[in-house]
Amino acid sequence: MSDERLASFVASERDRACPFDPSRDLLRLREEDRTPRLPVVHPVRGAIEAVVLTGYGDVRAAFAEERLVTGDGIDPALPRTLFNHPGFLPAYSGPEHLRLRRMLTGAFTVRRTEQLRPAIEQLVAGHLDAMAARGPVVDLVEALALPVPSLVICELLDVPYAARAMFQRCSQVIMDGSADAGQLVAASAELNAAMAEIVARNRATPGDGLLGELVREHGTELTDDELVGFGTTLLVGGHETTATMLALSALALLRNPEQAAVLRDDPAAAGPAVEELLRYLAVPAPLLRTAVADVEVRGHRIAAGEHVLLSPLTANRDPALVPERPDTLDLRRRPVAQLSFGFGVHQCLGQQLARLELRIALPALLRRFPTLRLAVPEAEIRFRQGSTVYGVEALPVSW
Ligand code: HEM
Repeated sequence: MSDERLASFVASERDRACPFDPSRDLLRLREEDRTPRLPVVHPVRGAIEAVVLTGYGDVRAAFAEERLVTGDGIDPALPRTLFNHPGFLPAYSGPEHLRLRRMLTGAFTVRRTEQLRPAIEQLVAGHLDAMAARGPVVDLVEALALPVPSLVICELLDVPYAARAMFQRCSQVIMDGSADAGQLVAASAELNAAMAEIVARNRATPGDGLLGELVREHGTELTDDELVGFGTTLLVGGHETTATMLALSALALLRNPEQAAVLRDDPAAAGPAVEELLRYLAVPAPLLRTAVADVEVRGHRIAAGEHVLLSPLTANRDPALVPERPDTLDLRRRPVAQLSFGFGVHQCLGQQLARLELRIALPALLRRFPTLRLAVPEAEIRFRQGSTVYGVEALPVSW
């Protein structure tokens, strides 16, 4: 295996034989316990050189190492994108990150999230009804996977749902690795401008949504820019990832009918089943860190200034985490401490919400359409290989 060959796909590509599995070269890195410095193409940074960590222990330890930071911080001299906008949580580190994150954690606890259950159940049921009426062939991404998380996050933030087409288009440009710098800046600017109007409205009269709550509780501690950044981060982070997970899970279940039956027939299975789908599919592309000091992660020396890529997918499939059949989807498996939501201080803020949406939507889909099947040959399904979240472009289904 030449490092040259690995370079072009290490950041996000999967195995050609099974669209859910890590690429073989990435797996080999884990098996050989190698941590080479490789030229990689990162969805946001473009061509960089990075140390690639693939094993469970290494990835988890690197997530926990606070001297490996997520971004360059908020540099006002750079053209503004979502990724360097004030309020974009992943760009912060240390006490400033904690200060900002604490203002949001209360809204995403298990208890607060659980209050959304009836609304999410209703939303899902409504979309399944609409799907039944539209059949016999629908694109599951368009009919269910994208609108449900979008509506939930719009509701939470009090963003008019009419703006969804705009924000979905912008967030796809932002998350999809193929956009150039100009497109990224333009899409971010459009999204920021729309969010600035919503923030201004909430500054004038705080509404019932999360932005209104932030103005009431932390209005004097936050700038308008920070509020805009909070809003866009949650809007983009809150729907694209969950939508992708929903559609990719549906495909994995269609390929494994006996696993689909577990989720369809046993109401108690939803919790562990969703954990296993999160583990097995691991939709986030390898996550980038930069060392702000010389550090050592379980024997791997990383010099100040070096980039590190952390692969949740290979970590989740590591026999060190899952000794038995780690590459098999087994919804009856006892949940393990998988890394699809990251780990450490930047661990996903919206993970309880994502779990709830998946636990409601997937069983409901399978129960409503027990004969659900792909409406096209599997070879025709297009995967988002270069994106920051892996998934399908569309999923035509029938029943
Ligand atoms: C299945 C769905 C989801 C997946 C797989 C996912 C994955 C992740 C991962 C891996 C991180 C850590 C990134 C890093 O360490 O560099 C993260 C952070 C984050 N996620 Fe999620 N996420 C999901 C859903 C959501 C939802 C529904 C929301 C909001 C409502 C959300 C909001 C955030 C935010 C704000 C952060 C940044 C936290 C920080 O930097 O302190 N995510 N997510």
